[in-house]
Amino acid sequence: MPVDIPDAIAHRILKYFAENARELPWRNPPGQALPLDDPQWPYRVWLSEIMLQQTTVAAVKPYFAAFISRWPSITALAKAADDDVMRAWAGLGYYARARNLLACARAIVAEHGGVFPNDEAELRRLPGIGRYTAAAISAIAFGRRAVVVDGNVERVVARLFAEPSKARVHALTDRITPIERAGDFAQAMMDLGATICTPRNPRCEMCPVGAECSGKEDPGQFPAKPPKPARPDRMGSAWWISCDDHVLLVTRPPKGLLGGMRALPTTDWSENLDAPPPFSGEWRRYGMVTHIFTHFRLNLSVMGIEAESGCKLPFVGEWWPKSQIEEAGLPTLFAKAAQMARAMEERNES
Ligand code: ADE
Repeated sequence: MPVDIPDAIAHRILKYFAENARELPWRNPPGQALPLDDPQWPYRVWLSEIMLQQTTVAAVKPYFAAFISRWPSITALAKAADDDVMRAWAGLGYYARARNLLACARAIVAEHGGVFPNDEAELRRLPGIGRYTAAAISAIAFGRRAVVVDGNVERVVARLFAEPSKARVHALTDRITPIERAGDFAQAMMDLGATICTPRNPRCEMCPVGAECSGKEDPGQFPAKPPKPARPDRMGSAWWISCDDHVLLVTRPPKGLLGGMRALPTTDWSENLDAPPPFSGEWRRYGMVTHIFTHFRLNLSVMGIEAESGCKLPFVGEWWPKSQIEEAGLPTLFAKAAQMARAMEERNES
């Protein structure tokens, strides 16, 4: 590629962004000076970037708004109770992000006087901030040049250079990243990947760098897809234990899947479905919920029992009013199980 082509690409991409940027609540409008004197600006960028890891823009929007209104600054978030943050995150998934979010807010307050570092290496020392997020914050929040490669950017660049290997995409992105406005450039590439250079049926005729694209004859080839690892099935049972219009909820251990989240009590998740209920009585099978985790698919059998009025807690947990189950901050798996149990109870009553 001749030396001036990377400049031409950056120029076209920035022009495309100026004319087509998606309006998103955490964004500075394209081309405008960064609000660097607003102490909450890097906080908003960081929060959005953590939420957007593995999660769509549409899913993030309401959570971003709720977090900003409840914890408008890094210091407010650093002071929040762990449980409140975990429950506010409920439904967004990948809960280690929420634990790291709090650890990161507290580290910034304790070790950086509440001020975000702007340097990638410094950012990477903080909990939950890896190569991508450090580059994104440095470029988007502070306008520093950084090479920002998320899944969308990876696809756009692999196609642009007809490069099958994901391992080479970072160096290629480096070649086209401009010195100025690297944050706008990164977000333009993300928008391009989300709206034009999509995984299937890309709209090459609308692409601002279609003329420079080496992969446009067969974009589906780039980047090459590694074989999908098998996703094994796991099984388990969840216990819906009711008593006087309340249901028993537990808090899961802090480490591990859905760590620190409110939940229904369950068996371990393994190959064996038929673990016995935790105590004897008239258990009913309400049905099965299926949930996809990164490394396995869980088939959770939901079993219910009506315990006697005034009953004692059979586990360490809390009795939660069933009519307010939506406010318990249950992760999606248990929200689905609760919905199923409630529907079955209603059916049995009528
Ligand atoms: N995905 C991750 N970060 C993003 C951003 N700043 N804009 C759009 N999509 C994104």
